[in-house]
Amino acid sequence: MEPIGNVLITEEQINDAINRMGAEISADYAGNELLLVGILKGAFMTMADLARAISVPVEFDFMAVSSYGDATKSTGVVRILKDLDQEIAGRHILIIEDIVDTGLTVKYLLENLQVRKPASIAIASLLVKEGLQETPIEIKYRGFSIPPDFVVGYGLDYIGLYRNLPYVTVLDEDNLP
Ligand code: IMP
Ligand code: MG
Repeated sequence: MEPIGNVLITEEQINDAINRMGAEISADYAGNELLLVGILKGAFMTMADLARAISVPVEFDFMAVSSYGDATKSTGVVRILKDLDQEIAGRHILIIEDIVDTGLTVKYLLENLQVRKPASIAIASLLVKEGLQETPIEIKYRGFSIPPDFVVGYGLDYIGLYRNLPYVTVLDEDNLP
């Protein structure tokens, strides 16, 4: 049985979007250093590719969070599984996400990191689901706005699988193995 539905975003489209985002970020932070904060696990691929499209000096750090809930729906209750290794006071922070759905995860992360007094903090997300953000959050750098379907690939998983697909595809939930 084929669990994968229609390809939503091709490898080439992802590549173009990453390059565009990288150029925007490089222009906005010209003359500054950035700390990229990748949100594990989903953002590892966006982080790796976006970092290579950014021309200002960057350091890397990662956080791992888990949101309680079932496999395809977010509850907004977030638990930190791995915190940053570094202090962020006075530094320019760019949170890198694979997808913003309800926005509750990034809202929590923003509140959590603001307390540590960074010089600035912004969000880059490859995907933003349309119409689902429960609280208005500025996603300054975004690759694509997508319909509210559950998608996998390019870092995004369904119960741990499909992160390695080089494209983003809609998961056909009625046709899983
Ligand atoms: P939010 O808190 O609702 O914005 O959800 C954010 C997190 O839920 C993301 O970082 C993903 O890990 C996960 N998520 C949301 N939508 C999808 C999807 O369509 N496919 C895979 N993971 C998703
Ligand atoms: Mg996930």
